[in-house]
Amino acid sequence: MVTLAPAAAGNWRDITRVKAAETQREWVADAAYYLCLSAYDGLWRSYAVQDDDGAVVGHVMWAVDTDDGSHWIGGLVIDAERQGQGLGRATVRALLDLWEREEPSLSGTAYREAALSVAPDNEGALGLYRSLGFVETGEQEDDEVVLRRPRS
Ligand SMILES: CC(C)(COP(=O)(O)OP(=O)(O)OC[C@H]1O[C@@H](n2cnc3c(N)ncnc32)[C@H](O)[C@@H]1OP(=O)(O)O)[C@@H](O)C(=O)NCCC(=O)NCCS
Repeated sequence: MVTLAPAAAGNWRDITRVKAAETQREWVADAAYYLCLSAYDGLWRSYAVQDDDGAVVGHVMWAVDTDDGSHWIGGLVIDAERQGQGLGRATVRALLDLWEREEPSLSGTAYREAALSVAPDNEGALGLYRSLGFVETGEQEDDEVVLRRPRS
């Protein structure tokens, strides 16, 4: 249903066109910000989310916490025009599959646990993550709640 393609010369312009709905912009940054974070901060890796036709419909990035080896999901945005079609769910599943298949060869760290943080009032995202087995841990990251999911 979706393919994750690393951000690169051939797709970064399409990624910058991915936009959350106006009412969702308090929860996420612009895709261009995430691309710069991945390019210059040395931690995150940005991916284009492509639909079955190869169109870029979203952005997601991931990073490994070097303290505990947990694999973090960040910057998940499905373009407002394409939300509600199962693409967000497919994106998280695709990332978990990628780690299960490829780690530790991508980051040098074995995949044991996925983690993410989300604004407590972001009901849509919370519903999605809980339904995929993520559980609140009681940790806070800035103003967001942390959810974790052990490798299945
Ligand atoms: C959160 C987001 C990625 C979900 O992507 P999506 O493609 O719309 O989600 P899906 O169609 O795969 O839906 C998956 C689940 O999300 C939840 N969900 C999605 N939109 C929702 C909404 N508006 N209200 C309540 N639940 C919602 C539901 O649990 C849904 O499960 P269902 O299919 O059983 O109904 C998307 O809404 C988005 O980009 N939001 C703005 C950015 C954002 O908040 N990102 C998360 C940062 S932590």
